[in-house]
Amino acid sequence: MAKYKIAWMPGDGVGKEVMEATRVVLDAMKFDAEYIPADIGWDFWCKEGNPLPDRTIKTLKETDCALFGAITSKPRDEANEELDPSLRDKGLSYFSPIVKLRQLFNLHTNLRPCKAYPGNPLNYRDDIDLVVFRENTEGMYGGIEWFPLPEKIATAMADKEVGHPDRMKRWFDKGLENVAVSTRVMSRQGCESICRQSFEYAKNFNRKSVTLVEKPNVLRETGGLMTRVFREVAKDYPGIGAWEANIDAICMWMIKNPQDYEVLVAENMFGDIVSDLCAGLVGGLGFACAANIGDEYAVFEPTHGSAPKYDGKNVVNPMAMILTAKMMLDWLGEKSDAQRLEAACAAVIKEGKVGTYDVKGVRAGQPGSNSTMEVAQAVAAKL
Ligand code: IPM
Ligand code: MG
Repeated sequence: MAKYKIAWMPGDGVGKEVMEATRVVLDAMKFDAEYIPADIGWDFWCKEGNPLPDRTIKTLKETDCALFGAITSKPRDEANEELDPSLRDKGLSYFSPIVKLRQLFNLHTNLRPCKAYPGNPLNYRDDIDLVVFRENTEGMYGGIEWFPLPEKIATAMADKEVGHPDRMKRWFDKGLENVAVSTRVMSRQGCESICRQSFEYAKNFNRKSVTLVEKPNVLRETGGLMTRVFREVAKDYPGIGAWEANIDAICMWMIKNPQDYEVLVAENMFGDIVSDLCAGLVGGLGFACAANIGDEYAVFEPTHGSAPKYDGKNVVNPMAMILTAKMMLDWLGEKSDAQRLEAACAAVIKEGKVGTYDVKGVRAGQPGSNSTMEVAQAVAAKL
């Protein structure tokens, strides 16, 4: 029997290609796993009205962790149009299966390292090496939203009218059917968990500072809670700098002085935003690996999406997915394999001989660029 059972979820679009490429690498390193395919994504929405079928959840529960390629999401009306006609008018509505998985398995921590590998021509600077800790189940991603706005929510909101004459009147003027509300839910324990993990990481990996990304001057309650908790947790780590930045300001500072930041911690939406920004500093989505981690289970998924434009062309950069598999090896405790894999990726990047179009600076699929699979083979050869 294999040492590990890994749920294998290519998902949509280029997810399939980058997963296939990653498999070549994992096999080359003789990683001892049984891979169990699991259905997820757009096709299952169209055919079954559910992008995350129950059988998939069952499979995940029987495995150690999951590797996941990418997902296609479309707005509500387009999703309904692509649903099998026999399933229409049944009240089905599309949801993001990855957001659902994070909730279902309480994958509370989204870890997103952004490292400028030497020799990567896409590095914004060569001295960037940071990690984003993104809270992964709360905030605006809690899915507590309304449209149209129910009367009782409008009434509860009206209690907040004190000191703002006529504001609700302006908002609700055209009727509650014209008002949408999304909420940002944050708990003390959610804030504490993500803050503590970021400081623990800083301690274990000798990082000098942790920066909280928030906006407490405007989001006074949620941002205020997160900021208070961050300061409390910071007291337990006296040797580590505890910096605070607003989400807007950090977008500027990350462009000016990204090398100054080592660990960023943020709630869900701000973490989503800032992690794309950080990815852009170290080569873009082709290099951005990520992990959704809970207490008992984890889903490893690169930051990039399904890139429908490149679907089936074997041209996208598999580094993000391969480095995501490296994060899986780390989480499983296979530290030396993880290091070996990262070193192989770093060597291919440094040599600069084999690379996809993004790295080579040519159009996708044009002479001079290598295919997804060729890059994976180059990594495999370095192992
Ligand atoms: C990410 C993605 C997802 C998110 C989308 C696809 C739902 O942007 O993992 O960062 O917003 O969390
Ligand atoms: Mg994102």
